[in-house]
Amino acid sequence: MSLESIKFDKSDRQNLQVGILDQLLLPYVTKYIPITNIDDGFRSIQTMQVRGAPAIAMVGALSVLLEIQLLGSESYMKEQSFYDTADWNKTKTQLQERLDYLLSSRPTAVNLGNALKDIAVLINNADSVTSLNEAVYEYTCKLLENDLKDNVTMGNNGATHLLSLLEKEDYHSDFGVLTICNTGSLATAGYGTALGVIRSLWEDSQKKSTSGEKDVAKMAHVFPLETRPYNQGSRLTAYELIHDHIPSTLIPDSSIAYKISSSDLPIKAAFVGADRIVRNGDTANKIGTFQLAVLCKQFGIKFFVVAPKTTIDNKTPAGDGIIVEERKPEEFKLVTGTLVHPVDFTPILDDDKKPVSAKVGVAPPDMDVWNPSFDVTPHEFIDGIVTEVGVFTKDSNGNFNLDALF
Ligand code: MRU
Repeated sequence: MSLESIKFDKSDRQNLQVGILDQLLLPYVTKYIPITNIDDGFRSIQTMQVRGAPAIAMVGALSVLLEIQLLGSESYMKEQSFYDTADWNKTKTQLQERLDYLLSSRPTAVNLGNALKDIAVLINNADSVTSLNEAVYEYTCKLLENDLKDNVTMGNNGATHLLSLLEKEDYHSDFGVLTICNTGSLATAGYGTALGVIRSLWEDSQKKSTSGEKDVAKMAHVFPLETRPYNQGSRLTAYELIHDHIPSTLIPDSSIAYKISSSDLPIKAAFVGADRIVRNGDTANKIGTFQLAVLCKQFGIKFFVVAPKTTIDNKTPAGDGIIVEERKPEEFKLVTGTLVHPVDFTPILDDDKKPVSAKVGVAPPDMDVWNPSFDVTPHEFIDGIVTEVGVFTKDSNGNFNLDALF
């Protein structure tokens, strides 16, 4: 069974239901929370109950769809005080204000902005709430379907590319790969981007093992970084790798150089996701990605960014134009998790038999901290950008030519 970050129940078209997996509670608690309007969407994105650039965009679009569904309900419109019901043009302007508000939930990932821009066009062209509801429904269904389909394509593109590079290098043995943050099913509609490539490499590996192929390059192990301070690597990627039975070992962010230099299993590549790739290939992704890229260059390890076309920002020429979100200091000074027994890791339950969430202080409360959520990796450090339409590499002058994507 594949992991599902978003449950979208379309069985009753007039009463669509959306639930998102609360990622703050993983890996110990699996709980879906309902999303019914833009306020729910905003809150779940800002608090990072849902995170990962594609998943943020899909939850954002779904929350707009649900709000439009409410606009078509007489009882809701009677109770609410925000929308002007008498004048459709005014309602449209107010909807646009709501999109702007939703966009302010997290600024770095471009996917949400791209989806909301598309929806803004649909709002502009709609002559009634019924036609708008239909148009946004179709758009959002496509967004979810395409994301899953594109991830599988990206997975195959990335795996094929690495295996052919290894073939050219005459490398015919087991190897390991590195990854950071969570780019899997939990961050997307399914399969994942960078983790999708890793899934694809693992499928290839299993086929080669089953058919008894000898002296072939095959991925034997994954080393996900814990991804401090929010621990998407240890809470989410580790959870996904265990779920899929992919051999893996979680490593601290601070161990990259030592791991690469001391690993018995040669590490041949790092695969990372992206929140925004700009025209020259500079890439914003989870904090720690840049240092991983620098170390990969130092040790001659291939470094790949894996992302769908919707993560490309064709308006921004270079990385210095990217706004990097800073998260609250508490997210750094406190570690958030589920209280567990220290020996067997079973959750400690409260009087209602529910697992207890806890925050543990790991820095003086008054200490000033800097807590950027992302960093920007210059394209010089990137060997390839894996997308659903192919793998982009640099020309002899060291430039990516991403024009085919725009
Ligand atoms: O802060 P997050 O957890 O939303 O950051 C997520 C990442 O940086 C991912 O690598 C990126 O969004 C791509 S997810 C397919």
